[in-house]
Amino acid sequence: MSKTVSGFSKLNKTEKIDWLIANFFNDDKKVALLLKQYWNSNEVIQDLHDDFIENTISNYYLPFGIAPNFIINGKEYTIPMVIEESSVVAAASLVAKFWGTRGGFNAEIISTVKIGQVHFMFEGDKNKLIKYFTSKKEHLFKVTEKITQNMRKRGGGILDIELRDKTIDLENYYQLHVTFETADSMGANFINTCLEAIATEFESSEIQIVMSILSNYVPECVVRAEVSCKVEELYAENSELFAQKFVQAVQIANVEPHRAVTHNKGIMNGIDAVVLATGNDFRAIEAGAHAFAARSGRYKSLSNASIENGVFKFWIEIPLALGTVGGLTKLHPLSKLSLKLLGNPSAKELMQIVAVAGLAQNFAALRALTTTGIQKGHMKMHLTNIIKQLGATDEEKEFLIDYFEHKTVTHNAVVEAYNKLVGEN
Ligand code: MEV
Repeated sequence: MSKTVSGFSKLNKTEKIDWLIANFFNDDKKVALLLKQYWNSNEVIQDLHDDFIENTISNYYLPFGIAPNFIINGKEYTIPMVIEESSVVAAASLVAKFWGTRGGFNAEIISTVKIGQVHFMFEGDKNKLIKYFTSKKEHLFKVTEKITQNMRKRGGGILDIELRDKTIDLENYYQLHVTFETADSMGANFINTCLEAIATEFESSEIQIVMSILSNYVPECVVRAEVSCKVEELYAENSELFAQKFVQAVQIANVEPHRAVTHNKGIMNGIDAVVLATGNDFRAIEAGAHAFAARSGRYKSLSNASIENGVFKFWIEIPLALGTVGGLTKLHPLSKLSLKLLGNPSAKELMQIVAVAGLAQNFAALRALTTTGIQKGHMKMHLTNIIKQLGATDEEKEFLIDYFEHKTVTHNAVVEAYNKLVGEN
């Protein structure tokens, strides 16, 4: 029997769930119960979430944690993080404390320019196109004046509109490359609205508009975060060797794309968690960050490290198009709370906080990888999760944690040890 359905979006939530369990779960009422268990008991809150997307049938929880003790540019922060990976918040908290006693993190905004493009086809004489663009350019700004009015009051707006010849890459392909400043908003809607107005005005019988859309590649919306200390303050034992191996680990990520991807994934563990907690678009951030990592033509580390004159320095430069107004930021009660927790930062301040969260996570990963190995910490968290799944009592939990102190944790080994323990009781 076909499971194709028409008019599905018009059904109410319960009808959608009924359809789902009838077609995919043999009418198992437990499935409906499970989905409803995750509904918020406050109808207003649930309605809000229902309306974020179409065909909402339930909510999907992720842990919302906090990492205290971050010092960034001399200011204290407790950073909100939304993530499912067990070690991330623990690592952030440890690293925050570590660098808190060594001067904290420094961060600075390098640039905040965003980009949108009108892609179009033109078959005629290029000089004629240039003439047409030059004669139209002022008018293209004019037609967006109403749209940009509020943004201009906040210090933003369209910075420039450029005609770019892309015919080397694709026959007849040109674009209007438009640069924006979007102040405290991420600016996606603003940019796209401006671009569509520009495209409508620019179109002619000879110019065929293909599409108008912002770019999530924002190499001119970049933030830098950094930590540094004397090499001897870096590690308890053999600090020099530690610093050296740490720098080598970064160098490896700079020359070896397989390692670079995992290295950067570790950075994104911290970045995405804060991006999500503050209601920003983590897919846009991910796409932009990885494109930036490959900007030289080779995929490389987003972070760098050096030792000079006995000083260890570790830093990241990353494009982050973030907003603290608009989108989900003030709509989702928990994003709003996250931003409040951070002291209602400007978009620039949030860029700095997020970059620091990424650098901290990268520091934690490289420190573990170049010393004890990553599994020790990871498996400790994993062990607690398995113990919980097994439904162990506090006493049993304590016993198992002791038991695995110097043993390798695997799911089977924990289950076996638990069964033995329970059997013995
Ligand atoms: C795991 O989520 C992240 C790490 O693999 C990052 C890294 O290897 O640098 C630990």
